Amino acid sequence: MKDLLATVKANKRIAQNIYMITLTLPEEVGAMHGGQFVNLSTGNGAHLLRRPLGVCMAEGNEVSVCYQVKGNGTKYLTTVEAGRKLRVLLPCGNWFDLDDYKNIAVIGGGVGIFPLVATIREHFQTKNFYSYIGFRNIDAVCLYNELAKSKRLTITTDDGSYGQKGNAVSAYLEDAANVPADAIISCGPPVMLKVLKQKLKEQGIKTPCFVSLEERMGCGMGACLVCVCKTEDGGNARVCRDGPVFNIDEVQL
Ligand SMILES: Cc1cc2nc3c(=O)[nH]c(=O)nc-3n(C[C@H](O)[C@H](O)[C@H](O)COP(=O)(O)OP(=O)(O)OC[C@H]3O[C@@H](n4cnc5c(N)ncnc54)[C@H](O)[C@@H]3O)c2cc1C
Ligand code: FES
Repeated sequence: MKDLLATVKANKRIAQNIYMITLTLPEEVGAMHGGQFVNLSTGNGAHLLRRPLGVCMAEGNEVSVCYQVKGNGTKYLTTVEAGRKLRVLLPCGNWFDLDDYKNIAVIGGGVGIFPLVATIREHFQTKNFYSYIGFRNIDAVCLYNELAKSKRLTITTDDGSYGQKGNAVSAYLEDAANVPADAIISCGPPVMLKVLKQKLKEQGIKTPCFVSLEERMGCGMGACLVCVCKTEDGGNARVCRDGPVFNIDEVQL
């Protein structure tokens, strides 16, 4: 993990309220994997805390992350132009480790799709991805060509304006019997992960399932405990350091 002064190469809108920012790093930091994140300064001195954003694409000394405009920090980030320097801590956290798996069901929603895109990009030549990806509506659909590297791709929208009407978890469950998955990976809003956990249990699906969690973060490196989540054994885990990827059976959602 390194704390670097990166140069913004591009910062462009890719869907309604969603931007992709590409950073050129002053030095290579080694492999970055889907699930890992960067802790990025917004460039506005008023925002002391950096913003955690999932690695979406990484090659050589370039890394791209995508962000939804949510609060003041991400709003300010949209104004940052190419050539600006931003401090970034990376790569942070663990990743979707798929070494033992060949056929993977991917369930993603909202901004949770970005680490999943990185994972598909990393492995699509050697593994089969069966992806179920949910967007709010047609205006939020993005990175289709990356998602389409999956062996099979189902896109859902809440209002049916693109793809199948409904959500990604339901779409997967309807299809589960036809998906030869030996692992499930998922990232999305907390409510989506909670429903996923409940439904897998109810339907007796025992396929190993790994989820990437979102928690408010401070340091991004394991020191401040801002990001702690509860584990099923009654303990705590730091999402930034012990995660953000956990076995779904190990964490309370
Ligand atoms: C591991 C991880 C990966 C993430 N990856 C992405 C991604 O790829 N794309 C994306 O759009 N979003 C992602 N998020 C969520 C993103 O970090 C927040 O949406 C963002 O920090 C909001 O900042 P803000 O200044 O717009 O909001 P504000 O509400 O103004 O932020 C105030 C503070 O709260 C924190 N905060 C607010 N919401 C969240 C949240 N949901 N999660 C964590 N911290 C939050 C901010 O970092 C900041 O410190 C990720 C979160 C985590 C933990
Ligand atoms: S953000 Fe500081 S310990 Fe996780």
